[in-house]
Amino acid sequence: MFELLAWVEGTALASFLRGAGVWTYGLINLAHILGIGSLFGAILILDLRLLGVWRTIPLAVIARPTVPLAAGGFLLAVSSGVLMISFNATEYYGNPFLYIKLPAIVFGLLNVIAVQQLPAWRAALAGFETDPVDRRLLAVAGGVSLTIWLTVITCGRMIGYW
Ligand code: HEM
Repeated sequence: MFELLAWVEGTALASFLRGAGVWTYGLINLAHILGIGSLFGAILILDLRLLGVWRTIPLAVIARPTVPLAAGGFLLAVSSGVLMISFNATEYYGNPFLYIKLPAIVFGLLNVIAVQQLPAWRAALAGFETDPVDRRLLAVAGGVSLTIWLTVITCGRMIGYW
């Protein structure tokens, strides 16, 4: 792990960023926050709907704006996060919150892929009525997703306090 962090810190991009002025880290951090806000704001609405809130609004209607917004936010959070860590990557060596956060992001992605394979999700997205078993399955998926992204956010916030 130390070798990977040292490599990230030693890239030409990282040394360019470190020399790019006092505002650089703050602006990238701002992009990280905007990415997190878009990702989590969209995911929160989608997952609460999966958990049964706003049941009168069809899932297909809620998914249309939230899924692309979450995807865009995710890409912004990940790209800015990688740039942020590159500033002084080796200082994060041994930080347990980073070691929980990064695998949690991978689990979050795997969960998205798994949910998209569910016949219940595909049926709901196509506008078909879901039966109680499907609804329970989607509710579990929403609960798992919320747990994962709350873990990522909590660990992200705590990294700096270790
Ligand atoms: C590969 C992906 C990511 C990397 C490498 C990364 C890296 C980082 C780094 C280096 C920090 C600053 C820690 C510090 O020194 O205080 C940070 C902060 C944070 N990250 Fe990430 N991050 C990634 C993705 C995400 C995602 C997807 C989320 C949320 C869904 C997230 C949530 C947070 C939060 C909440 C903070 C605290 C922000 C602040 O207080 O200013 N990160 N991240």
